[in-house]
Formats: sequence, C-alpha cells, structure tokens
Amino acid sequence: MKIAIPTETQTGESRVAASPDTVKAYVKKGAEVWVQAGAGSGASITDAAYETAGAKIGEDVARDADIVLGVRRPSQDILNAMKPGAILAAGLEPYGDRAGLEAIARAGVTAFSMELMPRITRAQSMDILSSQANLAGYKAVIDAAYHFTRAFPMMMTAAGTVPAAKVFIMGVGVAGLQAIATARRLGAIVSATDVRKATEEQVKSLGAKFVFADIADAATSGGYAKELSAEDKAKQAALVAEHVKAQDVVITTALIPGRPAPVLITQEMVESMKPGSIIIDLAVERGGNCPLSKPDEIVEHKGVRIVGTVNLAGKLAGNASPLFSKNLLNFIDLMIQKDGSLKIDDADECIKGTMIARGGELVHPMFQVSK
Ligand code: NAI
Repeated sequence: MKIAIPTETQTGESRVAASPDTVKAYVKKGAEVWVQAGAGSGASITDAAYETAGAKIGEDVARDADIVLGVRRPSQDILNAMKPGAILAAGLEPYGDRAGLEAIARAGVTAFSMELMPRITRAQSMDILSSQANLAGYKAVIDAAYHFTRAFPMMMTAAGTVPAAKVFIMGVGVAGLQAIATARRLGAIVSATDVRKATEEQVKSLGAKFVFADIADAATSGGYAKELSAEDKAKQAALVAEHVKAQDVVITTALIPGRPAPVLITQEMVESMKPGSIIIDLAVERGGNCPLSKPDEIVEHKGVRIVGTVNLAGKLAGNASPLFSKNLLNFIDLMIQKDGSLKIDDADECIKGTMIARGGELVHPMFQVSK
C-alpha cells in the first residue's frame, strides 16, 4: 500500500497532511509513505524528519498511490496523476465551487471530504473542523491583542489605572470557546453569545458573561446551528447592537453548514463602536459575519479595524499540521485491515458520511438534494 503526501498547492496554505508521527504509524501498519520534497516546510518539518520517520521523499508522489492525503483540494495535476479507485482524503470544501468537486469525481478517485465528519463521539478524533477551529480561536485573540492599541489586562500603576479590555465572542463553537479561554487568560472582561442554548453553561464555566436574546434554540441534532427566523434575527440584532457599542474587541466565529455565514455585525454597529476597536472575522472565508470584512485584508472603517485573515489555523501550521495529520490517520485507520490491505466499509457512519465521490460520480446525499 502506497500513501502519498503531496505539497499543498493552494496559495498561502502552509499546512501539510502528515507529520513524522503519523508517517511512523502508517509505516508500522505496512504502508510505504511518499512525501513530496519540501511538503512540510511551511510547518517547519524537514524532509530529513520525514525520512527518519520512515518516509521516502520524491516529486510526483501521487502517481500510483493507493491513498493521497491532503489539507485542501488537490491540484488538477495531482488528480491527473492519481489512479482510478485510489483514495483521496482531505479538506475538500464540499460546500465550495461545484466545478472543482466534479473534477475530483471525474478523476475516478474515491474521495472523502473530512469536513463532513459526523458529530458523534467516536468521530471526535477525526474531526478536522474541531482540531483546526481550536487553534483559530486562540490565534484570533492573539491577533486582536496585536492590532489593539491598548492592553488586555487591567493594570494598576503609580501613573494611573489601565482598564481591562472588553472582548465579545460571537459564536461559541470550538473556535469561540478557545477564544473565550484565551481572552480570559490575557485578563480581558469577556462576554459571548450563540444561538444554541447549550452554550450558556460552557460560556459561564469559562468565566465569561453569556449574552442571549429571547429566541428559539437554533441547535440541530447534528450539533450545528441552523439559520434563525426573520423575527429571531431581528431580536438578536437588537441585543447585539446594544452590547457591541461598549466592546473593545469583537471576535466573530458564527457559521451555518452549507450556508453563507450569518451577518452579525452590521455597518451601523461597526460605526457605533469606539475608535481603536478591533473586529476579527473568522467567518470571512464564508462571506463574513461582518459585511465590511474582506478576505486577507485589514479594513479601517471610521477608526475601527476589521481583520479578515483567512485560514487562521494555517498561521499556526506547526501545531495545525500534526493535529490535522492525526485526524487523517485515525480516519484512514478505519480502512486498513490487519493484513495491510484496504477495505472501504460503506456501513461505517464516518466513511459513509464523508464520501463525496466514487466511480466517477459525486455520491454524497447533499449533492442529490441540490440537483
Ligand atoms: P460552527 O463552526 O459550525 O459554528 C460556530 C458557532 O457559531 C456555533 O456554536 C454556532 O451555534 C454559532 N452560530 C451560528 N449562527 C449564529 C448566529 N446567528 N449567532 C450566534 N452564533 C451563531 O460550529 P463548531 O465550532 O464546529 O461546533 C458546534 C458544536 O459541535 C460544538 O458544540 C461542538 O462541541 C460540537 N462538536 C462535536 C463534535 C463531535 O461530537 N464529534 C466534534 C466537533 C464539535
């Protein structure tokens, strides 16, 4: 069995889909692992480190591979090199452009989009959204502190008191929870909101204040949020508008699977904030929680700085890569048999839930619905 790790080709992607530890684990299971030369450089993993772990270093590594692992969608060159029936497991952006997904299907590979991992206990160790969002939540706060022209903690000095910064986290999923914890550690006064009522306890247990409008619980059985009704959106907007005025930093992380990110901070709300305030929009790649944010830009609007860095987890590639790689290892492990052969068990929820293409077709139920 040959497993290939090509270098990521999307602009700005510094992560890599295997770590020396996961290479070691694949080799132990009898696999031959090929890593493209330099694939780990963005995550500070040298070719020599991969070789020490048992990998071979090459160039056109995807050719003849039984399994190709990636962080993002592979380039057309990689798809062309792959043999039909080979396994592709990566973050394939299943809600992104359809043409790119069809190209993956046309390559005849069996493709797994790791973002579609079901939210069940057994799948936690394979959940790339969760492992990456945690790092993104941390980095969002660090970036906010960097751009803020004041300090986060309260300081009492002989020359006067520095007040603690007020940080508001919108969307308390994995990223939001880590953002709350990080902002608290830096000494800020933290508040947070979500549309899933279950988050109230989590927010309070981290020592932050929970801000919740009088709306219906928007949690789905899958653990995600659904879109709010028009009436609930208005109630939430009124509450947020009042709260945001007094905040120094707002970090938005709100997402709804398969839909554009909900608008939470309108232009009017931005204009109600004090000059020097910071907004970090983690949802910028999916349209943004603030209409003023722009991917990979810092927008200054009437003294408020709106930071739209995409792929925040990728800025911590040294941590993000080993975690992502471990998620992939745990997933691929479901298919590696004791004798070293590969078996795709269609009855396994994690395999069925993430399989998007097979035998030249897009096969996931989400594609049948949208037809
Ligand atoms: P996400 O990235 O899809 O969304 C982030 C947050 O935004 C969510 O908490 C969501 O409720 C919130 N949101 C959506 N619309 C909003 C709005 N209009 N206003 C305010 N907030 C809004 O969610 P994420 O981080 O992927 O996780 C959601 C839940 O799934 C978490 O409770 C997490 O613990 C759970 N989870 C379970 C896993 C498992 O059991 N295998 C794995 C990973 C997460």
